[in-house]
Amino acid sequence: MSSTSKFSTPGGKSSELPMLKGTHGPECADVRGLYKDAGVFTYDPGYATTASCKSAITFIDGDEGILLYRGYPIEQLAEHSDYLEVCHLLMYGELPTPEESAKFNNIIKQHTMVHENIRDFISGFRYDAHPMAMLVGTVGALSSFYHDSLDINNPKHREISAQRLIAKMPTIASYCHNHSRGLPFMYPDNTLSYVENFTRLMFAVPAEQFEPNPVAVKALELIMILHADHEQNASTSTVRLAGSSGANPFASIAAGIASLWGPAHGGANEAVMNMLDAIQDSGETIDQTIARAKDKNDPFRLMGFGHRVYKNFDPRAKIIQQMCHELLDDLGGDQPMFDLARELEQKTLADDYFKERRLYPNVDFYSGIILRALDIPMSMFTVMFAMSRTVGWISHWMEMHEDPEGRIGRPRQIYTGAARRDYPV
Ligand code: CMC
Repeated sequence: MSSTSKFSTPGGKSSELPMLKGTHGPECADVRGLYKDAGVFTYDPGYATTASCKSAITFIDGDEGILLYRGYPIEQLAEHSDYLEVCHLLMYGELPTPEESAKFNNIIKQHTMVHENIRDFISGFRYDAHPMAMLVGTVGALSSFYHDSLDINNPKHREISAQRLIAKMPTIASYCHNHSRGLPFMYPDNTLSYVENFTRLMFAVPAEQFEPNPVAVKALELIMILHADHEQNASTSTVRLAGSSGANPFASIAAGIASLWGPAHGGANEAVMNMLDAIQDSGETIDQTIARAKDKNDPFRLMGFGHRVYKNFDPRAKIIQQMCHELLDDLGGDQPMFDLARELEQKTLADDYFKERRLYPNVDFYSGIILRALDIPMSMFTVMFAMSRTVGWISHWMEMHEDPEGRIGRPRQIYTGAARRDYPV
């Protein structure tokens, strides 16, 4: 039976707010009638207690450290699945049968190449452009190449655009990298898996044979599964908001990429490495770094620690932590920097300030270290996050277009500016 909750204003107006309940998670007061009935808005900067939509894709319980894609725990998907199977799950709601999997893999492979003019387009960026700047521009520009699938009211067009985006992202991402290093653009090799192909696009050169490194492929596959979706985070909400006006999928995903770029979101793993490098260069001890992070007069925060939703250990961080430790033992790599990272991890986990505020290392703390261990340049970290998250963004975009309650996103505000006044004449 549905329940309601009554809201009353001090002025005596009231509104009956229906209480909505999903499969999991807290009840939600449906405030849609509040302004009409009681003449008030709700105020929630950062939308920390606002459900902006109904979604059947991903569930997070931040207190319990639970993350489910279409009901499946992330731990099980990380152990048993692969990235393209997860893409199918997120996009279509179900794990594919073997036949569906073969068909989906085939479709994605058919779309891995990009129009030759996109290669020229990327070549036109300045030699030192940040790969994220190139990515956001190039993905937005895809809408000028694929006119045949831009009717957002046509479900088939929406699906083809989604498949194109998932398929072309590794190609575009690698070209952004190769352009910034003066390396040739490789063509995709469709005999390889999605992730193997990406490593080839990034690291192969035409003059040499290329064999994907299984350790790198395994680590990247895991990172990509863990980053594939995360419900209504800033970039996904941005994709929905941009898409809610009817913007085409490429423009909407470009908006999501722009949102992901910030250091409080997808830029965090790059920020982690910058922080570790700065600690190493300055000779500061980890105890001094931690003291700065705790000092309220110092704006410095430990990058890669804390999460808006997970107030318990980030379940993705738990999975990736193990992979990170194994990889560091296996690969060696930049040992002094990795030793710093381990010391920081251990000391913060034991520190009362971080324990009381439930600030744990998040997924980006470990993914940054893994990507560094795999020799992936720092400027590519957020690009790789965008590549992994494209399926989540486009799944939300598709879901939004199928939602009969969907409306253009248009928040309200509390106006705090000057009161009405007359122009001096
Ligand atoms: N270092 C030191 N203190 C921190 C940190 C940190 N990284 N994060 C939060 N705090 C403190 C903060 O100062 C506040 O202390 P007090 O209660 O004494 O005022 C308390 O913890 C709560 O912080 P908040 O700012 O209210 O928390 P939030 O939920 O608004 O912010 C966050 C979440 C992720 C933006 C923040 O923890 C942060 O800036 N972390 C560093 C950046 C980072 O790693 N971001 C990646 C997040 S995961 C990526 C993703 O899923 O997209």
